[in-house]
Amino acid sequence: MLDEDIESGESESSEKAKDASVSRKKYELLEDVPGIGSATSEKLRELGFHTVESLAMATARELEAVGISEKKALEIIGAARSNIGVSFIRADELLKIRHKVSRLTTGSKALDRILNGGLETQTITEFYGQYGSGKSQLCHQLCVNVQLPKDRGGLDGAALYVDTENTFRLERIVQMSKHLGLDHEKVAKNIIYAEAYTSDHQMFLLENADEVIKTNDVKLIVLDSLTAHFRSEYVGREMLVARQQRLNKHMHKLIGLARAFNTVAVVTNQVMAKPGVFFGDAVHPVGGHVVGHTSHTRVYLRRASQGPVRIARLVSSPYLPEGEEILKITENGIEDTSVDERNKPRGR
Ligand SMILES: Nc1ncnc2c1ncn2[C@@H]1O[C@H](COP(=O)(O)OP(=O)(O)OP(=O)(O)O)[C@@H](O)[C@H]1O
Ligand SMILES: [Mg+2]
Repeated sequence: MLDEDIESGESESSEKAKDASVSRKKYELLEDVPGIGSATSEKLRELGFHTVESLAMATARELEAVGISEKKALEIIGAARSNIGVSFIRADELLKIRHKVSRLTTGSKALDRILNGGLETQTITEFYGQYGSGKSQLCHQLCVNVQLPKDRGGLDGAALYVDTENTFRLERIVQMSKHLGLDHEKVAKNIIYAEAYTSDHQMFLLENADEVIKTNDVKLIVLDSLTAHFRSEYVGREMLVARQQRLNKHMHKLIGLARAFNTVAVVTNQVMAKPGVFFGDAVHPVGGHVVGHTSHTRVYLRRASQGPVRIARLVSSPYLPEGEEILKITENGIEDTSVDERNKPRGR
């Protein structure tokens, strides 16, 4: 425990924390949580925990890094969790929590169909594929769609876009907004953008995103791309373990934010060649087991033989069967294909 906290009488925190878990009262600010005084809240902000919601998703070990004892860390995380109701529940209550999950349209009814209605909140969806397969275009489209009202497949919220390759283009947002009859200036105002220059910077941005998410009512978080910086900075076998550990931490932060704020989380990922594969798909996504296990839903995008058509395959989902559909990228954004386009032979 921090000395200042002892002086400010925060050692009574355990009793207060217990009360909190019983009454489930609402804490707005970190300082409202029993056990958190000004010294602790400062340390928590240093770690990127600006809101009670994100603190609820922290691990004791993370807080220990700034000198908060394990006991105290468990207490304050427990109190934060009780505030948003994250604790043991009966399985039948899970259904109620699932009802909170909303879906965001991709802009293509066909792709929405294999995703059971669109991208889910509280989980991570990964789009992977070769260059030009449409990953960034989909991310742009989702930033516009998330602002649509719920009856049009949106979530009536804002978007947070972390761009690692400097490929975000406002011109595309304008085109897509116009096509949907939205005021493009308003749409642009509701996309909170940051360019990440290195993998550390990318992690830092996400670690400090909770307050921005809360105050702007962000309902979509985009990391485009999740893996590019990690892949170029951690080169060679000897760096693989360190890279995977960092990626794991980053993905867990993203899951925590998606759950705490009931947002959709989207990451994009490149592919690499599978050596020695002559039949079937000769590529696989970067990031190994860490990305594979932390992305709940994985969609593989690839070009059809030529033209605007793309093939989207749902490769893994916690509860949906594999499926494949086609869509197209036009000036309007992501759209469904025509009957003619659907009947053309598909490329690999
Ligand atoms: N205004 C537009 N009108 C029609 N098609 C467009 C338009 N802008 C982009 N595209 C299509 O989208 C493609 C680029 O897709 P995108 O940038 O999403 O690829 P990506 O999967 O993100 O690739 P990378 O791995 O290089 O990031 C272009 O090659 C083009 O086919
Ligand atoms: Mg891209």
